[in-house]
Amino acid sequence: MPSATKRKKKGRVFSGARPTGRQHLGNYLGAIKNYVALQDDYDCVYCIVDLHALTTLETTENLRQNSYEMALDWLAAGIRPEETIMFIQSHVLEVTELHTILSMVTPLGKLTDLPTFKEKVRQQPHNINYGLVGYPVLMAADIVLYKSDAVPVGVDQQPHLEFTREVVRSFNYRFNTQCLIEPEMKATEFPKVLGIDGVQKMSKSLNNHIEIAATPEETQQRVMQMVTDPQRMRRTDPGNPDVCNVFTLHKSFSSPEEVANINVECRRAGIGCVDCKKLLAKNLNEHLRGFRQRRAELDRNPDDVWDILNEGGARAKRIAQATMQEVHAAIGLP
Ligand code: TRP
Repeated sequence: MPSATKRKKKGRVFSGARPTGRQHLGNYLGAIKNYVALQDDYDCVYCIVDLHALTTLETTENLRQNSYEMALDWLAAGIRPEETIMFIQSHVLEVTELHTILSMVTPLGKLTDLPTFKEKVRQQPHNINYGLVGYPVLMAADIVLYKSDAVPVGVDQQPHLEFTREVVRSFNYRFNTQCLIEPEMKATEFPKVLGIDGVQKMSKSLNNHIEIAATPEETQQRVMQMVTDPQRMRRTDPGNPDVCNVFTLHKSFSSPEEVANINVECRRAGIGCVDCKKLLAKNLNEHLRGFRQRRAELDRNPDDVWDILNEGGARAKRIAQATMQEVHAAIGLP
């Protein structure tokens, strides 16, 4: 294994994502592309956090399939399992032990003050479970269990990373040790990708998403449903690309010449929304063609995908066990 023999100079990156099944353009532009790129400079550990998912799920019947589908998307997008450790959180149960231990150096008020916790309380007032309170502690356990040097985070997860750093300091101070590493926050410009409604963030639960694994026909259909500049009512009205989500996506998937051209033509009604969308759908489908082919190939042998996840889990477990030995020694657990 390359990662075992020579470690990459910039250290280890860890990231986790809840198993939400087939990934959409928001996940792709916001996280997956970055995951793939980070592999060039870091030893990467990417985790499908199924235990975290339990804090919000009403039913677990799709958990296994959703983990599989997400793994397929990651692999087809360019995660290289020969170097990168890709695994399922619950396969390495050391994380639950570390979660318990870290909870002992965590003031409760700090958790209930977090904006993410308050938002969950608003979102699911009928299910404010204990796991929800400990969510950031479990996330901290994820990060430090694997001796991560850096974690790429968007704005919404920054409080969690700050919390992780505080917990590490508390633990190391309390037990007079250096065994846990304080991870660096790798603040990442995650572009906020809006859904086809053009208003809310793209998300599966809002059903305003476009799946990267969709067929070309489905993609075209979804793109044609996209809401454009609401001020532009008729084909002859000039439009404003600055407020149009179709234009935003063109910037990610179309050539600079096409983007420049739309930027001019939309404003003087030279191009209509229908043609503009058709071009976007065509470019999206071209951009994703290789990805979709690789995904379909991987999907022919699901056992191989599970092997990759299991092998990743075994590699992750070796790191986890070494960390836990140090943690036990530092605490003085008999
Ligand atoms: N909390 C993250 C989210 O909701 C998921 C996550 C779990 C994570 N553990 C992590 C992210 C460790 C980064 C590092 O998106």
